[in-house]
Amino acid sequence: MPISRRNLLGKLMAGAATGAAMQTFRDFSFAQTPSVPRIHSFAQLILLSHNENPYGPSEKVLAVMREALSGSNRYPRTEYDSLVNKIAVFHRVRPEQIVLGCGSSEILRLAAAAFLGPGKKFIQASPTFPLPGEFAQNAGAEVISVPLNRTYEHDLEAMLARSDGSAGLVYLCNPNNPTGTLTRRKTIEAFLRKLPATTAVLIDEAYHHFVSENSDYASFVDRPFDDGRVMVARTFSKIYGLAGMRVGYVVAPPEIARRLSKSRLELGVSVVSAKAAAAALDDSDYVLAAAKRNADDRQEFMNQVNARMLRALDSHANFVMVNPLRPVAEVLEHLKKNNITVAPRVPAMDKYICVSLGTRAEMQEFWRVWDLMPPQKMMM
Ligand SMILES: Cc1ncc(COP(=O)(O)O)c(C=O)c1O
Repeated sequence: MPISRRNLLGKLMAGAATGAAMQTFRDFSFAQTPSVPRIHSFAQLILLSHNENPYGPSEKVLAVMREALSGSNRYPRTEYDSLVNKIAVFHRVRPEQIVLGCGSSEILRLAAAAFLGPGKKFIQASPTFPLPGEFAQNAGAEVISVPLNRTYEHDLEAMLARSDGSAGLVYLCNPNNPTGTLTRRKTIEAFLRKLPATTAVLIDEAYHHFVSENSDYASFVDRPFDDGRVMVARTFSKIYGLAGMRVGYVVAPPEIARRLSKSRLELGVSVVSAKAAAAALDDSDYVLAAAKRNADDRQEFMNQVNARMLRALDSHANFVMVNPLRPVAEVLEHLKKNNITVAPRVPAMDKYICVSLGTRAEMQEFWRVWDLMPPQKMMM
């Protein structure tokens, strides 16, 4: 339901105290912000920074998690394999093609460990999700960042030009974080056909479920491409609402899955997390409803952007990049003062802010706070 201009003003209480902005994915910890009282600040903050599902997991999943808690005194035994088998059936692949991780973050780390090292190149877009680049750097690889093209797709021609025999791994995030934009399936296929045979490709589909029907997009899990070098990362942190449970996985050819598994943390997925993820896979109604709600909320966000004559990228995810047409530092400071945390500034797109879609009440508060900013001359 659209939010009227009138409703925008005067809804919900205004946050008074200054909240702590979480600066990076890894800084997402109160242990590192000791000046912030733990519980109270968290409750007051509106977290629009990490592209989570603000509504949480489904009731069915919560029930399974409550029951699983009583088994917490035991190490995981059968849970890892049960979840692997379930995911394999779900995607119609063999269990040897699935590796689980502590979030898909672990999968990204495994890929860097398996395919990179000194003398190897890691090819990524700019901007994109920064974690794989950090893992690549830690592995001693040279990180090559190729700017997105004018339509904010991966510039695959340019990425190809940088991919010589020493390119160990190419990272494609689709939809891309932080832009929310898509790279067309047929362009990716053409790229794969030309890529050196020795270069592995990691396609990160963390935001796959948020893509509405689109003829330019097809998941590489749902519609596999016959190529022994392609692995696809998925996560339970986004649409399933389980970011805190830390479960992700990769679907890969068996040989690649074996290589990835070598550095996997044994028992890295907890009993409760594995059972939660399995239950989440079963609850397809919840996923459909969450995708529909996100599409509506995204449209409403764009309506609010347009009402204020701002600019935003066409997002296919659960976050939107907005050009506030005023200094970004000022906007971030204003939001922070009002207890709203959005993603940290993205150096490669420093005129934009990236906002995760929160609940409807949270987004009303976001726009109410936005409108408290003094009018200002437009800047591009
Ligand atoms: C594109 C992308 N991939 C992977 C991740 C890692 O998520 P997780 O480790 O929770 O699965 C994120 C987190 O925001 C992300 O945006």
